[in-house]
Amino acid sequence: MLTGKNIILGICGGIAAYKTPHLVRLFKKAGANVQVLATASALQFVSELSLATVSRRPVLRDLFDLEGPGDDDKTVHITLGEWADAFVIAPATANTIARLNAGLCDDMLSVCFITLRPDKPVLIAPAMDGHMYGSPTVQRNLSALAAQGCSILDPESGDLASGQCGLGRMPEPEAIVTAMEAMLRPAPVSPLQGRKVVVTAGPTREKLDDVRFLSNYSSGKMGFAVAREAARRGADVRLVAGPVSLGTPPGVERIDVESAADMMEAASRFFGDCDLFIGAAAVADYRPEAPVTGKIKKNDEAMALRLVRNPDILGEFSAGRKPGQLSVGFALETGGGIGYAREKLERKNLDLVAFNVYDGATTGFEVDTNALTLIDRAGNVTELPVMPKDALAGRLLDEIEPLLPRR
Ligand code: C5P
Repeated sequence: MLTGKNIILGICGGIAAYKTPHLVRLFKKAGANVQVLATASALQFVSELSLATVSRRPVLRDLFDLEGPGDDDKTVHITLGEWADAFVIAPATANTIARLNAGLCDDMLSVCFITLRPDKPVLIAPAMDGHMYGSPTVQRNLSALAAQGCSILDPESGDLASGQCGLGRMPEPEAIVTAMEAMLRPAPVSPLQGRKVVVTAGPTREKLDDVRFLSNYSSGKMGFAVAREAARRGADVRLVAGPVSLGTPPGVERIDVESAADMMEAASRFFGDCDLFIGAAAVADYRPEAPVTGKIKKNDEAMALRLVRNPDILGEFSAGRKPGQLSVGFALETGGGIGYAREKLERKNLDLVAFNVYDGATTGFEVDTNALTLIDRAGNVTELPVMPKDALAGRLLDEIEPLLPRR
């Protein structure tokens, strides 16, 4: 499965490093070439000789190592970034996760993370004590790395070297190899290839005055995952994004907007020539009727706000669309059955509606996972269980592809 693939394996100084010679062997057995980059503390846990023996290459550690694979005319850290088809960091410690997020370049592992070609997959397998893993700092750094496109392989629960029992164990090397194989599997030729896709994502902000707004908790993660996956399948993707703190997926044209009116204005420019419109944004239904210039002054009275309806972006697209243009929406509810989603499919004239229930833990805003029930016009219902939003985006597009008109 990994025949001829060049893999950089970055090893950090955690106890799980003792599993990495086995990981190297599995990669080699799958046909890959492996270049090990170890941090200084990794080699306290696993011997350099073992890693060099199983990988059949010297282990690189210092920035100033002169010998490495790739073009002899360039310095090693540059050639490594070009040579690699993928970068795996396992185990990834809190320290290295922070260094990678900060963009430090103080050893071979961290500098190669930066020189890696941006279209190459990165898999990070954090492994550490459960309390460390759960700390806001580590989670913030992991979220930031995930937002720039790194895949995070969640640690498992079990006995930890710290004496604790909990989340933090590195998944077994077999699971890491399987994850890497899935990431390097070539994307099948998709009916989305060359199609024009518009995705709206994130919240909108509706101004009350110059310093305050009404908004919602949407993180944009679901819409960004859909845009990323559509681009990966060869679509020509425009992502109209409300205010979110997410990196732009590779190959996607992003248009940042603030209010529903701005989103309408930006999205409607693409209505005419898009093949598929996916409304994943949590567009505010209402906006203050008359935003105040400056700052609203408080007094001792209660305050009434008059709100007026915002345009329904997806609804307007669907109402005016030409035959062959597909329209897909999301229906987020805080409970209830799929009846409301079916009604939305009809009312907004959609081809497919993705219904999800907000539970605040595994589904809904801000979290990295979600579950969807897809309903199409023919009445087919497909349940997609809780899974990472990236995987869910793939399953959603799998369901949309057969609905695209034949060329
Ligand atoms: O009507 P409701 O807000 O529940 O519909 C949700 C779907 O419609 C989502 O796909 C959302 O992106 C889209 N929508 C929109 N413009 C609005 C409200 C919702 O595009 N003003």
